[in-house]
Amino acid sequence: MIRVCDDPENLSRAAAELFTIAAQRAVAARGRFSVVLAGGSTPRRSYQMLARPPVCNQVPWAQVHVFWGDERCVPPHDPRSNARMAHEALLGQVPLPAAQVHPMNCTGDPAAAARDYQQQLKIFFGKGEPRFDLILLGLGSDGHTASLFPDSPALAENTRWVVETRKPEEDFSRTTLTLPLINHAALVVFLVAGESKTAILRQMLAAGATDPPLPAQLIRPQPGELLWLVDRAAAGE
Ligand code: 6PG
Repeated sequence: MIRVCDDPENLSRAAAELFTIAAQRAVAARGRFSVVLAGGSTPRRSYQMLARPPVCNQVPWAQVHVFWGDERCVPPHDPRSNARMAHEALLGQVPLPAAQVHPMNCTGDPAAAARDYQQQLKIFFGKGEPRFDLILLGLGSDGHTASLFPDSPALAENTRWVVETRKPEEDFSRTTLTLPLINHAALVVFLVAGESKTAILRQMLAAGATDPPLPAQLIRPQPGELLWLVDRAAAGE
C-alpha cells in the first residue's frame, strides 16, 4: 500500500503515529515491541517526534526493543553512524532501558560484528520466529535499502540474518540485515521523501520488477504487510 503525505513533516508524523500504534498493539498482544530503525536522513524527523510529547507519552518505552537495519562500520560518535543519529534524535531522550537498545557496533571486524549481531537476534527471538513487529526502511536513489545495494552478494544470502557488506564507492564496510529476516517482519514501512527519489520510486513501483530486481523490490514481507510512506515531492505527478 502507498500513502502519499503532503510534505516531509506530515510523512514524519505519519511514521511516528504508525510506530506508536504498532508498539501499543505488540505490547498488548505479546508484552514487547521489537522495532528495526532505518538509517540515513529521512527518518530523523520522525524519531524527533517520537521523543517529544504528546507522542512520546503514548509509547510503552519500557517494553520497546530497538535494533538497526544496517550500520556503517565507523566509530559510534562518527556523524555517519546510524546509531548516533537515532540516539541524538530519539533514544537519548526516552525512558528506554539501555539493555533494550541493540546497536550494530561494527567498528572492528565487520564479519565478526555480523555474526555477533546475529547471535544477539537469536537470543532475543529464542525459539520463536525471528519476526520483528516493525521494520523502518529508507530508499536510496539507486534502489538500495538498508545496506542491500544493487548487484551485492548480500542479496543472494538466504540463510544468515546479518552480513557484512560494502557500498562500492565508500572506504568503510557496513553490516546489514538480509532479505530473509526483513521479509519475516510483521510490518515493513518505507519512508521516502524528496524529489531526488521521484525517479527511483517510479521505477520501483512500475509494473513488473526491473531485471535484475532492485534491492528494495525484493522487500516482500510474507505474511507481513508492506507500506510505502512517500511525500508529494517523491511521488511526482
Ligand atoms: C544507510 C541507510 C540507507 C538509507 C537510504 C536513504 O545506512 O545509508 O540505511 O538505506 O535508508 O540510503 O537515505 P536517506 O533517507 O538519507 O535518503
